[in-house]
Amino acid sequence: MFKPQIVTDNIFYVGVNDRQKHKFENLISLTRGVSYNSYLIIDEKTALVDTVDISFGMSFIQKILDVLNGRTLDYLIINHMEPDHSGSIGLLQKYFPEIIIVGNAKTLSMVEGFHGAVGNSLEIKESDILNLGKHVLQFFMIPMVHWPETMVTFDKTSRVLFSGDAFGSFGTLDGAIIDSQMNAHRFRNEMIRYYANIVGKYGSPVQKALDKIAPLPIDFICSTHGPVWTENIAQVLEIYGDLANFRAAEGVVIVYGTMHGNTEQMAEAVARGVAETGVKHVLVYNAALADSSIILRDIYKYKGLIVGSPTYNNELNPAVESLLRKLEVRNVRNRIFGYFGSYSWVSAAVKQIKHFAEKMDFTLAETVVEQKQALTLESYEKCIQLGKEVGEMVKKSAVCK
Ligand code: FEO
Repeated sequence: MFKPQIVTDNIFYVGVNDRQKHKFENLISLTRGVSYNSYLIIDEKTALVDTVDISFGMSFIQKILDVLNGRTLDYLIINHMEPDHSGSIGLLQKYFPEIIIVGNAKTLSMVEGFHGAVGNSLEIKESDILNLGKHVLQFFMIPMVHWPETMVTFDKTSRVLFSGDAFGSFGTLDGAIIDSQMNAHRFRNEMIRYYANIVGKYGSPVQKALDKIAPLPIDFICSTHGPVWTENIAQVLEIYGDLANFRAAEGVVIVYGTMHGNTEQMAEAVARGVAETGVKHVLVYNAALADSSIILRDIYKYKGLIVGSPTYNNELNPAVESLLRKLEVRNVRNRIFGYFGSYSWVSAAVKQIKHFAEKMDFTLAETVVEQKQALTLESYEKCIQLGKEVGEMVKKSAVCK
């Protein structure tokens, strides 16, 4: 029924595609779905690496049974306990009651917390080895990529890194599972969107994880979401290095809130100013209508950020406020930042964006534009000046393309 898909050397893909959920974690849009990847190693001992969201538990079990072809499952290795990967542990234990759960102390504690009991288990520590026969597995802790218990498993024999969420992306696997067998280009943006929205708060742990895996001779990266990387390993490592260190490409994201169009007119003028400097990536988003996960993705991609808001109930526009909070929580840094705003009778928005900007590790444009009521010619020209200033600063400081 299920034709097994091989990664390499008796390592089989047994993951599933989710085209049903509208939002990942009930927050982040899934325009082209998401895959929950799981891998089954067949050797003298059999081992499964991670499980899948419980919504797909039965088709997952069927795939495992088909690959096992009558054999039992000896080990379940848990790299990450978030339920999109651990949700099927209980179901798996029903089918394979003797299975040994392999994880670190934090993992095993979470298994008990989420599933009530651990069952048979093998607690492992940093650099421990598990020998399956031909395949020799080694474990490395990468806490906070993306939870405290997260670890990676390296198959020393087949040079395969089972990386958990790291290097994962949104988007289903439509037929092929390995980057060399598909047009993997579309996953680049979805990897950045996954990082910005899910892992982005943990740049420093990600850098530590990259340093830890750097000496490993990796031929395949098997993440829990998106393609298996083999042809593009150098590129995905570079993308992760840039993201973890907030290095960004030449481009400017302009995000605004607007009630009746006056602040929007300011944003249009700012965009004109940026474009006049020759910066080609200029992305203008209405914060209340655009997909916030895409806005966040592009803020991670590009060096320049300009934010505008009207004063709303003596505060910021709520959609702009929500975005600024996301940036603050993730401690986004190393950006060229400009801002503008408007008000009808009392000024508040520009002061609040200024307050936000001063807390962040941003380089600020000198030009700030604040407009009372409708846009004047003087303010229009000042908005263009703001765009030009940020555009020129970005051209001097963007470091990756
Ligand atoms: Fe894909 Fe942190 O779970």
